[in-house]
Amino acid sequence: MLNNKRMCFGIIGCGRIAPKHAESIMAQEEAELVAVCDIIPERVRDFAERYSAVPYEDYRRLLERKDLDIVTIATSSDLHAEIGCAAAQAGKHVMVEKPMAMNLRSADQLIAACREAGVKLAVIHQNRFNKSVKLLRKAIEDGRFGKLTHGQATIRWNRDDNYYAQAPWRGTKLKDGGVLMNQSIHNIDLLQWMFGPVDSIFGYTETNLRQIEMEDVGTAVLRFKNGALGLIEASSTIYPQNIEETLNVFGATGSVIIGGIAVNRIEVWEFPDSEAEKREIFAAQEGDPPTVYGFGHREIIQDMIQAIKDDRLPAVHGEEGRKALEIILAIYRCQQTKQPVVLPLEL
Ligand SMILES: NC(=O)c1ccc[n+]([C@@H]2O[C@H](COP(=O)([O-])OP(=O)(O)OC[C@H]3O[C@@H](n4cnc5c(N)ncnc54)[C@H](O)[C@@H]3O)[C@@H](O)[C@H]2O)c1
Repeated sequence: MLNNKRMCFGIIGCGRIAPKHAESIMAQEEAELVAVCDIIPERVRDFAERYSAVPYEDYRRLLERKDLDIVTIATSSDLHAEIGCAAAQAGKHVMVEKPMAMNLRSADQLIAACREAGVKLAVIHQNRFNKSVKLLRKAIEDGRFGKLTHGQATIRWNRDDNYYAQAPWRGTKLKDGGVLMNQSIHNIDLLQWMFGPVDSIFGYTETNLRQIEMEDVGTAVLRFKNGALGLIEASSTIYPQNIEETLNVFGATGSVIIGGIAVNRIEVWEFPDSEAEKREIFAAQEGDPPTVYGFGHREIIQDMIQAIKDDRLPAVHGEEGRKALEIILAIYRCQQTKQPVVLPLEL
């Protein structure tokens, strides 16, 4: 990629999340969307027309395009690693939707394929770019909490049976996972980003209300390597609609709660002598986004473009994206064995 050339993007998978990618790519001065792919012919035709891109029904044909710099993978989750490896082998930088893979072996293959091909890999955890989350992360990096004591990631959302019936992969063991793997993975990523490596986990999952293979409720307790404790509560069963996606972080000299519908709204911001700062933060709140997808896609794409230009790692590179995946797979392991799991999780 020459420094003055616009980056050419292709999107593979033109379903629910794809418009968010298309619009976020088109909002970048330094990028253009040139190609899109879906196996459903009318879907890809409509999508290509809407965004003035060239349609493909086979992603391998799309990957043959010499002008493509970056490929965004937004298919069902089971195909992320396979398509990501093919994109890397074709010399394309890879932006992959979460989860980056359905198991750690596939995640590692994707990371290795990108490393071997010398291309960048970014995993779409766009909530890391929420204004609120960036402020919290800065407070952690500045050591303002003192010793971290405990934290919690909570998702209380509603995904009804109509949602799960929209596509045959939803809620399945091999192609999606349940509420932990699909919806809660963003907040679990944030929890571990704030607290650092996990030492051990115990969790339960249950399918209480929805007609799906995997969990619609999941809970877990974690011990982090720094001695802090963590809780995860995830549910897609909340009556009658989404209530919150909330992240709590507590330490010796700090308490922060970020809530709202998708971790955008700072509800508690307490540090010594923080009254003026608190007023400023509360006055400049971003507020809830129009959808739970949030505001972060633009910035994570911008970060990828900058990472390529600067030849540095993207903010949420492959090993970063792997961390939340490992935690969720560990909870699934607990559900099977009824035993706590010490990380690293055996493959
Ligand atoms: N970051 C976020 O906030 C966010 C939000 C929603 C979904 N997602 C993730 O994005 C992915 C897609 O989710 P969705 O809700 O858009 O699903 P979806 O079912 O609406 O769309 C997936 C699309 O991929 C297409 N597809 C399947 N196999 C393909 C192939 N071999 N080649 C090309 N296209 C293929 C399907 O036909 C479908 O149109 C999932 O992994 C999901 O977890 C992320």
